[in-house]
Amino acid sequence: MPASSLDQVVNLAKRRGFVLPGSALYGGLANAWDYGPLGVELKNNIRQEWWRWFVHRRTDMVGIESAVIMNRKVWEASGHVEHFSDPLVECAQCHKRFREDDVGRLAGDNGQEAAGRGLACPSCGSPGTFAAARQFNLMLRTYLGPVEERAAEVYLRAELAQAMFVDFPVVVETTRRRLPFGIAAQGKVFRNEITPGNFIFRTREFDLMEFEYFVRPDEGETHFANWLAEMQAWGAHLGVEKTRLHVREIPAGERAHYSQRTVDIEYDYPFGRKELYGLAYRGDFDLRTHMEKSGQDLRYTDPVSGEKILPHVIEPTFGLDRTVLVVLLDAYHEETVRGEKRVVLKFPSWMAPYKAAILPLSNHEDLVGVARPLFSQLRAEIICDYDETQSIGRRYRRQDEIGTPFCVTVDFETLKDRAVTIRHRDAMTQERVPLEKLAAVLREKLRV
Ligand code: GAP
Repeated sequence: MPASSLDQVVNLAKRRGFVLPGSALYGGLANAWDYGPLGVELKNNIRQEWWRWFVHRRTDMVGIESAVIMNRKVWEASGHVEHFSDPLVECAQCHKRFREDDVGRLAGDNGQEAAGRGLACPSCGSPGTFAAARQFNLMLRTYLGPVEERAAEVYLRAELAQAMFVDFPVVVETTRRRLPFGIAAQGKVFRNEITPGNFIFRTREFDLMEFEYFVRPDEGETHFANWLAEMQAWGAHLGVEKTRLHVREIPAGERAHYSQRTVDIEYDYPFGRKELYGLAYRGDFDLRTHMEKSGQDLRYTDPVSGEKILPHVIEPTFGLDRTVLVVLLDAYHEETVRGEKRVVLKFPSWMAPYKAAILPLSNHEDLVGVARPLFSQLRAEIICDYDETQSIGRRYRRQDEIGTPFCVTVDFETLKDRAVTIRHRDAMTQERVPLEKLAAVLREKLRV
């Protein structure tokens, strides 16, 4: 079974240094999280694998990396300044503010409108204190330069997509791509969320990985269906149990202002079924609006026919922090082994922070004399951990808990037969491997 409560994973993540409360030395900052030594490896592995999977493996994709702060006109043209908002309600008693749909949900009511239904405030419990909702813009603002005035006001990017539209003509010109093709990007985005929470599920700064796939308008629906299948294949590649992933067609009233069709991939979190990823059919909304507002021709010219086309756009979008949360929840297992509880993170090996751990049976100098050089030698090509403290059983458990697929034990036999034991995390089976073949055997198992 995966984690049944969020606390199991939050506790493990803090205890073992995956994800830690941010600014902890000064009492923390609500909903700000840092990634510790294991978390950063896990997150980087997913980020890099996503790039390999969707960009390097394919012939129809190129990447960009854009600035976090763009010209304010980009966000005015894209409609974010006007429309990128959530309905906000405020409790007349305690003055706490909530996303309107959260009030209903927390009160056990699935409806959207909190006003006029007597719902209790999730914070102070007062009933019926909410007035009609108002729209609260989620764009995070700051000032460039030394003056805090309107002319210097800029937005931190709320999605990566806009840079891919603004850079579209340059990418076409420099790469000579033909339709259909995609532009991919990864990076931080910022949103002034009304109610962040549920650990790293909803935060005010988060990492996004997304691409804009440009197609001929009459091929849009076909590509949309293909990309949904590709996103599901990625879900399987993450090792997430497919019965916990669900596809939901988003009704018109709930879609973002730019989308003519959206399908979410949802996951069964301990706090309910909610969005993991989104797939939006943005049509020509963005290129058209940037063309109108900038006065530049953003049409694509077919190199054979010379035909000018305003492509349609399919956008698969993947929250990286939400991916980390889902893989932690889904990989988390509690088992009873010989009467004792074992916690194990059953990550696919490509994702695991450490691929192997080198463990001398004890800290006897003869064993350490073999194990330490082995660790240094392996570490140059396979990221591994080294541990010589406590009993071997305790050390196996410590590695299980952080998802290390293989433990390599150096024992007294090693001194005679020049072989070590590889112990497999999930099955807990063991095999004996000659020292000189260890790197090759691990490479083969990990396919690195
Ligand atoms: N360019 C499209 C776009 O940004 P979105 O549905 O607003 O779409 C994309 O966000 C993804 O980012 C979501 O599917 C989710 O994985 C993640 N996400 C959205 N808001 C988030 C937040 N406040 N904290 C963490 N992840 C978030």
